[in-house]
Amino acid sequence: MDKRALILGIESSCDETAAALVRGGDELVSSVVASQIATHSAYGGVVPELASREHLRNLVPVTRAALAKAHLTYADVDAIAVTNGPGLAGALLTGVSFAKSLAWALEKPLIAVNHIEGHIHAVLLERRNGIMEFPVLALVVSGGHTHLFLAEQRGHGWHYENIGHTRDAAAGEAFDKTAKLLGLGYPGGPIIDRISKFGDPKAVKFTFAHLKHEARNGSKRAGRIEQDRKRFDFSYSGIKTAVLRYVETHDMFGAIAARRGSLLQIEAPADEDFIRLCDRQTLDLVASFQAAVVSDLTQRTMAACEEYGVQTLLVTGGVAANSALRASLEQRGPRGGVQVHFPSRLMCTANAAMIAAAAYSKWMAREFAGLDVSAEANLELR
Ligand code: KG4
Repeated sequence: MDKRALILGIESSCDETAAALVRGGDELVSSVVASQIATHSAYGGVVPELASREHLRNLVPVTRAALAKAHLTYADVDAIAVTNGPGLAGALLTGVSFAKSLAWALEKPLIAVNHIEGHIHAVLLERRNGIMEFPVLALVVSGGHTHLFLAEQRGHGWHYENIGHTRDAAAGEAFDKTAKLLGLGYPGGPIIDRISKFGDPKAVKFTFAHLKHEARNGSKRAGRIEQDRKRFDFSYSGIKTAVLRYVETHDMFGAIAARRGSLLQIEAPADEDFIRLCDRQTLDLVASFQAAVVSDLTQRTMAACEEYGVQTLLVTGGVAANSALRASLEQRGPRGGVQVHFPSRLMCTANAAMIAAAAYSKWMAREFAGLDVSAEANLELR
């Protein structure tokens, strides 16, 4: 089997329609992403039905654009890889149906890829052949996920063990909901990241609950006994409520409504616009919120690294683009003897190159999906 197979990746699990070509699992040939931010921003979050419709509109042109950019045709492709979960059911279904049709019509193998595994491979794709010390821990932190996975390479394949996940909201969701509450726009993560540097991160104190880990002692899940392994779960619902309480007790709703209205008049607000429209109290609140989330992510991740003797930490997903999180883990990791790797900022958010890259080990192992493969909104990674 060709060691440098050219894989066409398709991604449609949430609000990005993407197609990419990756050769040999580590050579990015072309990547095209159609973001739906403009469609959803008026609603302050992703509207599932609109997302599916946008994917239907974009899948064919985005795939053609990825081929055209690489000066290649469908005939050059060795396999079609597609995200089959987790994600929005309707959105996933559009990509899976499209990929199945392509695989059937072109008589090429179909490879189903877990979106979370894709995020992990975004880091590996960009590291190319760099040496990696095991054990490896991956922090996958995005709008829908906050997970810690121990990752192990066995033969061609990768195996994953979840040792932490969010009990409620994902970290990215907390960024988005906080920005929405404060009238700052969508998606909230990049905006909060940009304006946090203008506020005092110590102004407002936020605390996180100490989580008890029942799964540690052999709880039953999906019919099997969980191993007695220490877990490092997250919870970001409480901080969303704490920000709301702060807004209520400090009577900030009037100023928020005025800011929301003003920002709606500006097509692409710059840092100066946000600074002009946010008072000191708001800037301090935003900076304190970000500092608290970053500190919690850092502490729990580093505690997991220590517990499992981790040598290499991969940090990925939309929130991995956050400058404070990058700085915090880049500083703390080496102090604990851990090498830390992030994807480039562009590769942090959902794309199809990460799907094509993750598919390569499955190509090598001939792990192909049948045409009966379905979209699974709650697909787990193992
Ligand atoms: O990975 P992604 O594109 O989609 C999901 O699979 O969820 O991540 C999107 C999430 C959003 O919640 C967005 O606010 C967050 O990533 N995000 C950030 C930053 N850039 C994107 N959060 C914090 N800081 C950023 N710079």
